[in-house]
Amino acid sequence: MGRFSGKTAVVTGSGRRGGLGEAIVRRLAAEGAAVVLSDIGASRDAATPDAMIGANAEMESLASELRAETGSPISTGVCDVRDFGQVKALADHAVATHGGLDIWVNNAGIGYIMKPLLEVTPADWNAVIGVNLTGAFYGLRVAAEIMVSQGRGGRIINIASQAAKSGFPHAQAYTASKHGLVGLVRSAAIELGPHGVTVNNVCPNHVTTGLGAWQNEYFSKVVGAASVEDYLAQMRNRIPMRRAGLAEDTANAVAFLCSDEAAYITAESMNVSGGEEPH
Ligand SMILES: NC(=O)c1ccc[n+]([C@@H]2O[C@H](COP(=O)([O-])OP(=O)(O)OC[C@H]3O[C@@H](n4cnc5c(N)ncnc54)[C@H](O)[C@@H]3O)[C@@H](O)[C@H]2O)c1
Repeated sequence: MGRFSGKTAVVTGSGRRGGLGEAIVRRLAAEGAAVVLSDIGASRDAATPDAMIGANAEMESLASELRAETGSPISTGVCDVRDFGQVKALADHAVATHGGLDIWVNNAGIGYIMKPLLEVTPADWNAVIGVNLTGAFYGLRVAAEIMVSQGRGGRIINIASQAAKSGFPHAQAYTASKHGLVGLVRSAAIELGPHGVTVNNVCPNHVTTGLGAWQNEYFSKVVGAASVEDYLAQMRNRIPMRRAGLAEDTANAVAFLCSDEAAYITAESMNVSGGEEPH
């Protein structure tokens, strides 16, 4: 019996190896939750290239591993979070397969459409906002409806970012989308609190996931670092804890916010940044 035995969790964007989503599903399943892994599964357009997303076979192999390792009930659901109907179907799948819904983590995000401000197109802007902010709203909307009707509370968590608190060059839409999540939880928490549903953001700084590795390459050029290693060394030096984040740091924060100990914490945007982001 683990802390989350008897609970069902859905984690979007959790089918890519090495991602924050993988660490979160591993942690929740290890502590007994029934977990629905979900990802877009295949490229659908220019905003979701194969090289940057969790493929279906990758998600299925991760799900098989988790079943064998944890013994917890694990299922999968392909879902493009930009499509409200698919997000609703994912939530319905969780209820039909596992008997309810207690934890929803909006983890799906894109952070590889980065350009100087004067080169950003309306399509670039809409692509990022569509996944990171609108997709998270869709998840929150469907999860909240089920949790309120079940009447047993719940946990909704967005994986936001340090970009929810501070600005970054070449990342206007990314930064705006993540700042938007701060407003979203502050507003939703007011209406969901009376139902025992908490709504929070977790805000990591730098983690070398698939997305993080792409960003390391990109920003090492933007800041004129001699190499990616040099860029990473500069990063470590400005972080009080003297290291970049690990996916497990984010998973630890998510697990805490999902626990009974966090029952009185809502509307928060919790930094997991080794002290780099103090606000
Ligand atoms: N890695 C970091 O340094 C870092 C820092 C702060 C915040 N974040 C956030 O953490 C989250 C996870 O990122 P990650 O670093 O693990 O990268 P990742 O690329 O491993 O994970 C992102 C996932 O989102 C999925 N996704 C993309 N578009 C989707 C769509 N339309 N529908 C459904 N799924 C979709 C991808 O397939 C992928 O599995 C993102 O929201 C990201 O913005 C990451």
